[in-house]
Amino acid sequence: MEESKIHKEAVKELAELSEVAPAIEGVSTGTKLDELFFKVEKGKKKPLGGVPKGGVLNIVGVPESGKSVLVEQVAIHQASLGSKVLFLTTESPANFLYTALKGKAEAMGIDFSEIEGKIVVVDASIDELLREDLPSLLATLNYAIKSRGTNVCVVDSITGLYEHKEIMARSIVRRVYNLLKREMQTTFLVSQKRSSQGMETSEAAGGLAVAHIVDGTIVLEKRVITNKFEENIYRMSVGEVLRLLRIDGCRLCGHDPRPWVVKITDEGLIEMIEPLVEFIRKNKGG
Ligand SMILES: Nc1ncnc2c1ncn2[C@@H]1O[C@H](COP(=O)(O)OP(=O)(O)OP(=O)(O)O)[C@@H](O)[C@H]1O
Ligand SMILES: [Mg+2]
Repeated sequence: MEESKIHKEAVKELAELSEVAPAIEGVSTGTKLDELFFKVEKGKKKPLGGVPKGGVLNIVGVPESGKSVLVEQVAIHQASLGSKVLFLTTESPANFLYTALKGKAEAMGIDFSEIEGKIVVVDASIDELLREDLPSLLATLNYAIKSRGTNVCVVDSITGLYEHKEIMARSIVRRVYNLLKREMQTTFLVSQKRSSQGMETSEAAGGLAVAHIVDGTIVLEKRVITNKFEENIYRMSVGEVLRLLRIDGCRLCGHDPRPWVVKITDEGLIEMIEPLVEFIRKNKGG
């Protein structure tokens, strides 16, 4: 039988936690998402001006739904504000990521030379050993966070860490999550969704593993107009794509639950237009 050990450090009175309890603050994304998270003070809603600081958010969507576009844009925006950003890539090799980020910074009107030193890339896309060996990956991330003093983190994608072992998804996500929480990294974890899973659900590859562990979920959806009914309500044509973004849940603070219509510009920037309900109402009138 296994020997039991008492973990005394895990037992604390609430009073002992007041020093280490994080305040509810926002970390700006530079998009309208910043207005959608709020706290309530004296009965009044107060927008955080960003995603909750120290939160680990899951960005879920099918291929081409805008996950990478969104997190790359946030990484650049945060770097332009002076944050140090850790970018773990399991998809796009670092040199391709460089080109993508450079193009995006230009499109955003941000001087790339000012931010190149602020984004720290950990490339697990080509290095299979790093991607497959979780303890080494965690040690590498921990080293990057500590040695470069990062406070914002992007993982594109977390799904890339359990491609051939979805049964392990939960424990992999949990261990990455624990490290990021311990190090107080405000994090955007991209997770891929299968087309067999409902478009609008937050269920990512690996089942529900991710959604239950993270602090909140943002779902990106691509809705292709396929019939007359949809043509009528959205005032779009069959074959056109309506892109939506929705905060599916957040356990750290309040949030706007409505789906928002989003657009990806020709330069590859994501723009939040308006809540879907207003988009439909407007189209009815006009
Ligand atoms: N640099 C760019 N210029 C113009 N449009 C772009 C650019 N990058 C992406 N897009 C558009 O944004 C869409 C979404 O791309 P994105 O790479 O964010 O998808 P994704 O959700 O990360 O998909 P995947 O799961 O395959 O990684 C693309 O299909 C394309 O239409
Ligand atoms: Mg992507």
